Amino acid sequence: MFEIPLAELVLEKLDRNDKTPLQRQLYQIIHDFINSGKLPPDRKLPSSRFLSKEAGISRITVSLVYERLVTEGYLYSREGSGTYVSKVVTPLKQADSVPAMKPWVYSERGARLLLNESSPPQPMGAFIPGIPDVSAFPFHIWRKILAKYYSKKYIHLSGYAESGGYMPLRKAIASYLAVSRSLQCDPDQIIVTFGTLQSLDLCTRLLSDAGQEAYIEDPTYWATASVLEAAGLKVHGMPLDQEGMVLEDEMISANAKFLYVTPSHQYPTGTVMSMQRREKMLALARKHQLWVIEDDYDCEFRNDEQHLPTLQSMDQDHQVIYFRTFSKSMFSGLRLSYMVVPPALAPAMRRAISNLYLPGMLQLQAALAEFIDEGHFYRHIKQMRTVYQERGELFRHELKRVFGRKIKISEGNSGLHLMATFDSLLSFEQFSLCASRHGLIVRQPYYRKATQNGLCMVLGYGGVPTGEIVQGVARLQQVFIEGERGLFFSG
Ligand SMILES: Cc1ncc(COP(=O)(O)O)c(C=O)c1O
Repeated sequence: MFEIPLAELVLEKLDRNDKTPLQRQLYQIIHDFINSGKLPPDRKLPSSRFLSKEAGISRITVSLVYERLVTEGYLYSREGSGTYVSKVVTPLKQADSVPAMKPWVYSERGARLLLNESSPPQPMGAFIPGIPDVSAFPFHIWRKILAKYYSKKYIHLSGYAESGGYMPLRKAIASYLAVSRSLQCDPDQIIVTFGTLQSLDLCTRLLSDAGQEAYIEDPTYWATASVLEAAGLKVHGMPLDQEGMVLEDEMISANAKFLYVTPSHQYPTGTVMSMQRREKMLALARKHQLWVIEDDYDCEFRNDEQHLPTLQSMDQDHQVIYFRTFSKSMFSGLRLSYMVVPPALAPAMRRAISNLYLPGMLQLQAALAEFIDEGHFYRHIKQMRTVYQERGELFRHELKRVFGRKIKISEGNSGLHLMATFDSLLSFEQFSLCASRHGLIVRQPYYRKATQNGLCMVLGYGGVPTGEIVQGVARLQQVFIEGERGLFFSG
C-alpha cells in the first residue's frame, strides 16, 4: 500500500542530470523524508527490490542506502519482515533543533578545513591504517610509573611544562635516537609536542606566511594538507616514482617554503626514498631556501636491513626539521611526539610553542622518560617489530592467495599497513558500505590530484590480532562477492 508513493516521490526528486552519484541522492531524499516527517516512525519502507525496479536504480545502491540509514539509526530492520523508520529520536533530529550555522560564519580556510578528509569513524578495528596493537602494550608497567609521578612527591610537575618539553625526556629521546637511528642531536634541539599535527602547525606559524607554498607527496597522510592549508599555504601534491617524490628545480615557485616528505617509509605507498633522491631534495631545499620536514612516523617498524640515513643526519645546511611520534610505538591516544630542529631554530621554536600553546603534562613526560630510560620502550618496540613483521607477511600472503591476479599490493614489508589495488567494478563508496556491514573499516589513500587508480585502499594490519588476519581477509572476500553479485543482479 505504501510502496508506490515512496517510489514515486523518489522518482520525482532524483535528478539524473546531476553529477551527484545516485546513491548519495537517494540517501539524501530518504533522509530528508524522515526528518521532515513525510516518513513517520514505524513506517515500513518498500523492499530494496521493489524500489530498485520502480525508481530504476540498481538494487545494490538501494541496499547500501538502507544499510547506511540503519547504521546511522534512521531506519531499523526486522528479520523476515522488512525495513522501518526508527521510533527513536535520530541524531539529526537533535541537530535539527540547533539553529544551522550560516555558511558565512566560516573563514575561507575554515570552510576548506571542514571539507577535508577526517580521521576514521572509530578508533580501532580491521583494517584501519596506522593503528598499533595496544593489547601487547605493558600497561602494568606504564600504570606503575604513571602512579609514581601522579603523586604528592612529584607535585612540582603539576604546573606548565618548560617550553620544549621536560628535559629528562628530551635527554632520553636524544640517546634513543643516537642508538636506534644514528641521529646525533643535542637535547636542546628536541621540542616535545602533542602530536605530529601540532609539530606541523608550529612550523607553519613560525616559518611561513599565508600565501606561501608547500610541496607534499601525492598520495600522503590526509591530515598534512589540512594543517598546511589551514595556515593559508598553497599546497602542491607531487607524484612519486620508485625512488620517492618527484620534484624538479623548475617546478619550485619563488614563494615556496616547505617540502614535506616521509622518506624512510612513504605514507601510504611504503616506497623508500633512494639515496640519490635524498641528496637531490636537500640540494633543491638549499637552492630555494626551503624547510624540509622529514616525517619519520613509523620507522621503528622497518624490518629491512637497508636503513638509509635520515635527511636530518645528511643535512649540512640546517634546513631539515625531523618529526617523530609516539603514536605508533606506544599508543595513539598518548598524544606525544617531538621535533628535532636545527640548533639555531631551537630557541625560537621553544618560545613559539610556549606563546601559542603553553604546554603542560609534565607527569606524563616524566613517566615516558623513565619508560624509555628503563628499557621498557625499546623492549616493547623490539617485540612489536617481530609481531608486525609476521602480521604483514601473513596478510600479504593471504591477500595474494585469496585475490590472486585481482590484487596489486604495494612493495616492501614494514610498518603497520599496506596499499592494495583491487581489480573490481565496485566503487570505493559501494565497497566501504558493504565492508561496514561485515564490521570492516576501509580507507582510500589520500590523493591531491584525481587519479584513475581502480579500487585502491590503505589497509592497516598492525592492530589486527594475528589470529584474526585470515578471517579478516575472508571477510574482505565476502564483501567483494556480495558487492559484485549485487551489481550483477541489479544490472
Ligand atoms: C605520515 C604520518 N605522520 C604522523 C602520523 C601520526 O601523527 P600523530 O603524532 O598526530 O598521531 C600519521 C598517522 O597515521 C601518519 O600517517
